[in-house]
Amino acid sequence: MWWRDAVIYQIYIRSFADSDGDGIGDLEGIRSRLPYLRDLRVDAIWITPFYPSPMADGGYDVADYRDVHPLFGSLDEFDALLRDAHAAGIRVIVDLVPNHTSDRHAWFTEALAAPRGSAARDRYIFRDGRGDMGVEPPNDWGSTFGGPAWTRTADGQWYLHLFAPGQPDLNWVNTEVREEFESILRFWFDRGVDGFRIDVAHGLIKDPALPDLGEEKEAILEPTRRVDHPHWDRDEIHDVYRAWRKVSDSYDGDRVFVGEAWVASPERLVRYLRPGELHTAFNFDFLKAEWGCQTMRDVIQRCLDAVGSVGAPATWVLSNHDVVRHVTRYGGGEVGSRRARATALLMLALPGSAYVYQGDELGLWEVEDLPEDVLADPVWERSGHTDRGRDGCRVPLPWSGDTPTFGFGPDGSLPWLPPPAQWRGLSVEAQHGDPASALELYRSALRIRREHPALGAGALRWLSAPDDVLMFERDPGFACAVNFADRPAHIRPPGTLLLSSSPLPEGLLPVASAAWFATGRSRSAPEAASIPS
Ligand code: NOJ
Repeated sequence: MWWRDAVIYQIYIRSFADSDGDGIGDLEGIRSRLPYLRDLRVDAIWITPFYPSPMADGGYDVADYRDVHPLFGSLDEFDALLRDAHAAGIRVIVDLVPNHTSDRHAWFTEALAAPRGSAARDRYIFRDGRGDMGVEPPNDWGSTFGGPAWTRTADGQWYLHLFAPGQPDLNWVNTEVREEFESILRFWFDRGVDGFRIDVAHGLIKDPALPDLGEEKEAILEPTRRVDHPHWDRDEIHDVYRAWRKVSDSYDGDRVFVGEAWVASPERLVRYLRPGELHTAFNFDFLKAEWGCQTMRDVIQRCLDAVGSVGAPATWVLSNHDVVRHVTRYGGGEVGSRRARATALLMLALPGSAYVYQGDELGLWEVEDLPEDVLADPVWERSGHTDRGRDGCRVPLPWSGDTPTFGFGPDGSLPWLPPPAQWRGLSVEAQHGDPASALELYRSALRIRREHPALGAGALRWLSAPDDVLMFERDPGFACAVNFADRPAHIRPPGTLLLSSSPLPEGLLPVASAAWFATGRSRSAPEAASIPS
């Protein structure tokens, strides 16, 4: 099963490669860059939504689940991309957005035109308001993008949107909704896609009583620790995924689901991964963990224990299109870059599958000073201009050259968000062949990962190591060491050096560095046995 140890490269389509010069990335842009992805040795790509959409939330507001937005191309171009990706040995995962549609989806238009209590309204969550004449929203839920989660319609009823008003929530107790999504899965599986990333996988079912949440405020993509939450991670959701698994299992070729579920703990997360449910789910605890030896070790062990309990593979992810890029999260500048390189080697040595967000391999950082007039994330408006939102991690990739386009699109075109001038030195062209670059580090790491029999699925064994150094072994014959201390660590190298995130003086692991070793020995280890350090 390829997905148990795959390296999956996330493509935020708007910002990957622009083939036609409109400043926005597209399917043909991806197709033209397949050789780059093949040479990087990723096993699969996950492409963020490319469907027709009014773009109230970068395409996560889908108006038609069975077509392609003209900005991004056409269904024929999608088929061509899929064919060429497969020919290059790259699988393709597409993004499914089942929690909400766009407010321009035919169903929602129909619902607005239909009377209260109609079948058309029952596909969504419409309610009368509270207070005199129903002028107050039906409850106190807030949108994760800021402001209330309810918008009033012309006839006085309110509809629920956990995200932007342009993203009305579907009613997942409605049979028609369930059937429609199974049919959408089939539409793309029939075309040959290898899997789906499921947006807001933990949000589909709401407590039918729609109770108030009380004082609790919720940060974006950071659900409450409550396990009896009225709209996140409700038990009834698992039914949906059991039905979807039957659909994916009815296809040949090892198709996969990866759930985006921001839940309270690894133990809650693996409930989505029980036999007969989703194959994989993002493990965001690793992404959220601060740089630190004990913190990271605890997060890794807890995740491995949890996925082990249901027989699912672990997934590891450091950045995506919703969070501040990890170079910046880890401190930015030289420090952030060193830590990011080290964590990449840590992540790629762990058992399970790993996600690389476009630009991680170039060492890109969060662009924190985008001009206000280009900000497109709904968070910016919805927060009353107090939160700049997620555009800083969505800036188009620098490919080559020194024009402001950096090869993202044809010369003379301007990317939809301006890349900083310093990214000239971080372009693919600038890093290509430079052994000290982030790109060559990733290329080497992914090459070794593909060739070394110890890497990918399996178990790890912690090794004893100096304070603030994390060291573990993988069978057969591989070890990884990471120094989290703020001084170089003296280590006895457990084998011959394969790769390191910074030059390695004899017997020393520099500050914020990681190294991979071939140990030449192999123990028959019981599953994830721990040696106390
Ligand atoms: C999670 C997606 O990754 C994010 O970009 C989007 O805004 C929300 N889900 C709503 O669809």
